[in-house]
Amino acid sequence: MSRIRLGVNIDHVATIRNARGENYPSPLRAALIAQKTGADSITIHLREDRRHIKDSDLKIIMANLKIPLNLEIAATQEMQRIALKNKPPYICIVPERRKEITTEGGLNLNYRKNFLKKLIFNLKKNNSRVSLFIEPSLKDIKTAKQLNADCVEIHTGRLCNLINLGKKYKKEIVRIKKAAHLGNKIGLEVHAGHGLTYRSAKILSSVKGIKEFNIGHFLIGESIFEGLNKTIRKFRKIISR
Ligand code: PXP
Repeated sequence: MSRIRLGVNIDHVATIRNARGENYPSPLRAALIAQKTGADSITIHLREDRRHIKDSDLKIIMANLKIPLNLEIAATQEMQRIALKNKPPYICIVPERRKEITTEGGLNLNYRKNFLKKLIFNLKKNNSRVSLFIEPSLKDIKTAKQLNADCVEIHTGRLCNLINLGKKYKKEIVRIKKAAHLGNKIGLEVHAGHGLTYRSAKILSSVKGIKEFNIGHFLIGESIFEGLNKTIRKFRKIISR
């Protein structure tokens, strides 16, 4: 079986920095440690309200990182302009609502579908790999293909909630398995992310056909106690099947 790639999301290093309006802790420093420790890519989400990552973070991380940067953006004109200018190797298009605490669900692929299609076209033409963050729905997988995305990232929030609450999660795993299977069958690269912990990452790693996990909040939180190196190494081990 192929190795699952680990994308490390460092947004919450910026959250801690911004809480005090200082210039530390540095997201770039976190990105470089993650790179050295074996992360396959670094993810940052430049939100419309800039609540964690800022434009200056994007610039400095792009300039210094050797592994691919995965930029998460909402499907807006402003983010299109920024992505086209900065040319991150990977882009993941995500839904965004100002008042949400985090990205609460997958994209609505039927909302401003023509703009979404054009956005994907423009980003791909600019040499970025384009992924769509979606629910594990067969319909959305098919639509992602029609929109000509390279990849889909399956939102694992529901699965992780069920696991965290000690509830039955088998049905959700089956939903994810079916979505991953269809994605692979029709030529999409399948990724997964949101809410993953050591336990849920381990459970999810048994699903065939998922090539990349993107993990942030738990990983950064755990690093407070264990350090970034150790936490990344532990995730690496857990997801190596
Ligand atoms: N993947 C996507 C597309 C996301 O939007 C997020 C959250 O920003 C993650 C993965 C990481 O989720 P978490 O921070 O809960 O690990």
